[in-house]
Amino acid sequence: MNVRSIHVRLILWYTVLVIFTSVGFGAYTYQSLRQRLYDEMKETLTRRVEHVRDDVLTHITTYTPDALKREIQDVYSPEENDRFIRISNSDGSTLYVSGSPRDKNFDPSRIPLPKDYTAKVSERMEQLRSSEKLLLVGFITPLAGNNYVVEMGAPIDQIDSALRKLIITLLIGLPVIIIIAVAGGSLLIRRALHPVETIRATAEQITFSNLRQRLPVAATGDALEHLAKTLNQMLERLDLAYQQASRFSADASHELRTPLTIMRSELESIESTMHAGQLPLAIRERIGSVLEEAERLSGIVEGLFAIARLDAGEAKIGHEAFDLAALVRSTVEQMQLLAEEKRISILIDAPGPVFVAGDAARLKQVIVNLLDNAIKYTLAGGIITFSVFLEQAKAILRIKDNGIGIPSEELPHIFERFYRADKVRSRTTQGAGLGLSIVRAICQAHGGTAQVQSTEGTGTIVTIELPLADRNLQENFNAAA
Ligand SMILES: Nc1ncnc2c1ncn2[C@@H]1O[C@H](COP(=O)(O)OP(=O)(O)OP(=O)(O)O)[C@@H](O)[C@H]1O
Ligand SMILES: [Mg+2]
Repeated sequence: MNVRSIHVRLILWYTVLVIFTSVGFGAYTYQSLRQRLYDEMKETLTRRVEHVRDDVLTHITTYTPDALKREIQDVYSPEENDRFIRISNSDGSTLYVSGSPRDKNFDPSRIPLPKDYTAKVSERMEQLRSSEKLLLVGFITPLAGNNYVVEMGAPIDQIDSALRKLIITLLIGLPVIIIIAVAGGSLLIRRALHPVETIRATAEQITFSNLRQRLPVAATGDALEHLAKTLNQMLERLDLAYQQASRFSADASHELRTPLTIMRSELESIESTMHAGQLPLAIRERIGSVLEEAERLSGIVEGLFAIARLDAGEAKIGHEAFDLAALVRSTVEQMQLLAEEKRISILIDAPGPVFVAGDAARLKQVIVNLLDNAIKYTLAGGIITFSVFLEQAKAILRIKDNGIGIPSEELPHIFERFYRADKVRSRTTQGAGLGLSIVRAICQAHGGTAQVQSTEGTGTIVTIELPLADRNLQENFNAAA
């Protein structure tokens, strides 16, 4: 997973979290405010009802209907306060009911009597006209063999309108809060992940050819600084181990060169005296075969030595500017005989000169190794095409053949030392599996790359990418030419 997708994932999680918490907070605020307003209203109504019960109902028998009306009117003035008051009896008679409120919000005469006169407290909501509601609280009081109910009610439209306003505020406010939180969060996540991205990008570029490079360490004093330092220490150890291994390969192949050269020259001198007929034929043949093997071994040791020195950065790489297309032409000419033996034709597609800055001798080795492979792994009558061109400020050398190709499962390994595809190994074709390792080591030493595409049974394309000679070098070259 790359840093970008971590970023996207974190933001998604963060957005979900922000939305959930904001919506949850909004719902909680709404619900608790609603509950509180209702509770407060109920409490007020309950207190008043208790008041009426204690002050008026307990003396009900002493009041005439008019006196009762006056008493309640004087103390509570329900009409002015938009309140509803009723005293009723379980036999269905109403002793007192308040008049219409000032705003004519409800009609007291149309509010049904309570259904139950046996419960202690009655509390209900009566739906009035269209959307309005009246909250009613009533106390049932047994008195002189009768059950009386004192009810007090108040419209709840004020509560509803307060709650509606809250919803509107939340509907406008929450999206704004969510947008600000997500944008701010995204910015913070991006900033927090930036050093990770820098470390990743640098780490991606570190290969065995530039193990000396280190990851950037931002002095933030946090876990990332610690991580970068720890990774750098690990690179240090890897670099050391790799250097030791490369030096060992370089030293070992270097040490092997001298005895091998001596062996070869001894065998060659024996071979030259053989022609004088001093030795029997069977022994001559054996010596010839030993000499062949010694030459092969010598080739392998030379190859290993070259790779080890290039890998260890010990090999000196020239940086003169030269025309890659011309180098391809001359090398192909020298190797033409090999191709002709197999009736393979070689085409060169190089419309103009392509100047690269590099070591001509080593890049010639690249062309030789690639052409050697193309000829070796192409059947008689095949075609090999070289193309040399410029692409995106790089020099491209491409060699295409219509040979046996490489199975896709073997493709990732062919640049490894001594790796040869199974099919090739079982054949008699000569080779140690070092050619492409040398090609890659030389390309990397030039700051270039080597890539292979192949389809089994169809053919192979090897693409070499090299840095162009810089303008100065190119101009010098032009001036000299
Ligand atoms: N043009 C090609 N067509 C098909 N297979 C190829 C081609 N080039 C390389 N290969 C495969 O990749 C393997 C590695 O190539 P490499 O050049 O490193 O070794 P080699 O040719 O076997 O031996 P050496 O080059 O050391 O003589 C080869 O053995 C072969 O299987
Ligand atoms: Mg080869």
